[in-house]
Amino acid sequence: MSVTLVPVSPAPSTARAAARPLDVLGVPGEINLDYAATAPCSRAAADAVAALLPWYASVHRGAGALSRRCTLAYERARQTVGDFFGARADDHVIFTRNTTDALNLLARALPAGTAVVTFAAEHHANLLPWPRGSVRLPVPADAGDAVRALDAALAELRRAGNPGLPVLVAVTGASNVTGERWPVAELARVAHRHRARIALDAAQLAPHAPVDLLALDVDYLAVSGHKLYAPFGAGALIGRADWLDAAPPYLAGGGATSRVGAGTHEVDWAVGPARHEGGTPNLLGAVALAAVCDALADADRAALHDEEQRLLGRLRDGLAALPHVVELRTFGPDAPRVGILSFAVAGRDSADVAAVLARDHGIGVRDGLFCAHPLARRLLAEAAARTGRRNLPPTALRASIGLGSTEEHVDRLLAALATLG
Ligand SMILES: Cc1ncc(COP(=O)(O)O)c(C=O)c1O
Repeated sequence: MSVTLVPVSPAPSTARAAARPLDVLGVPGEINLDYAATAPCSRAAADAVAALLPWYASVHRGAGALSRRCTLAYERARQTVGDFFGARADDHVIFTRNTTDALNLLARALPAGTAVVTFAAEHHANLLPWPRGSVRLPVPADAGDAVRALDAALAELRRAGNPGLPVLVAVTGASNVTGERWPVAELARVAHRHRARIALDAAQLAPHAPVDLLALDVDYLAVSGHKLYAPFGAGALIGRADWLDAAPPYLAGGGATSRVGAGTHEVDWAVGPARHEGGTPNLLGAVALAAVCDALADADRAALHDEEQRLLGRLRDGLAALPHVVELRTFGPDAPRVGILSFAVAGRDSADVAAVLARDHGIGVRDGLFCAHPLARRLLAEAAARTGRRNLPPTALRASIGLGSTEEHVDRLLAALATLG
């Protein structure tokens, strides 16, 4: 079967051609405004995978030329991804399936008794893996409030508990519900002042802005390839080696061992990334992710950011002008945000609205509570209180944009929503 890959990135104007080294694929006529769930495939990822496919063979398991090339490609991908995210020389870069997998891996690698502190505003992937007894701070009113609340919570933890207790703070870089950015560097400073470590859920931030582990001074970072224009099923956990090397392997099996004896549990586990990458690794996923990292590293990120903010501003202004549409927000209207926006249509069921947008307008958005139930419910209640509306639905809609998004996409959504008033 032959598959034609159709680029749907906008026809490049001269300015944009320089600013957009990453084309994305798609289907002409279908408007995808659901990048936050899964972004389209980039040309960079598709080409890297296509180039490797003839060579496709085992990784770390064969002496043949194909296998050696694949092993090299996999390890190069690890280096590229680590470099792109600013990994320290002694950090591990572990390929996972996605962010959920990466955070679950980290949760399993926590030293015994680790106290984990999160905010109720997190995606379920950053709420549910943590051990019982974790501290969940309330949704903050703004970025400053988040920093103060963390400071107070960590001071209290240190006062109340064993001063040597390992503590991990786990926060998102950008909300998958509102797109609002969290003050990661400030939270990291506070965490470290209290001798806690910090893990960054970069699933939604990384597709929109540079994320540098060293510059932000975070200890761990989790990302998903499929949200970063790199489908094929890989994500990554990057961070400090000590907890990871001391933990039981995430998946026991081939590749995670250095020696296995005859006794049932006579095994020396590998140290390094291999310890947590049991089984045959996802070569194509890793190579796709690395290809996007390379392409983004060569791109003018400031220009991409400006263009995204322009489209986001157009979308928000357009929604604000629709009297029956209410935006959801945590930190207020002017907080910095990435190209993600949730809203409710008064008097209309969100699933029905999403279905109408798809069926009648060829527009794909997300509806529901976005795997962030505590936050989304709270923001819907806040939106009702703010606007005095009693007819907001119990779930919301979300539009999210990225590299292939255009003014036309935004305007078509606004025009479609205008008909629902
Ligand atoms: C902020 C955030 N964290 C984590 C995840 C989980 O990502 P994945 O489904 O790729 O594991 C998502 C997915 O939407 C997300 O938005």
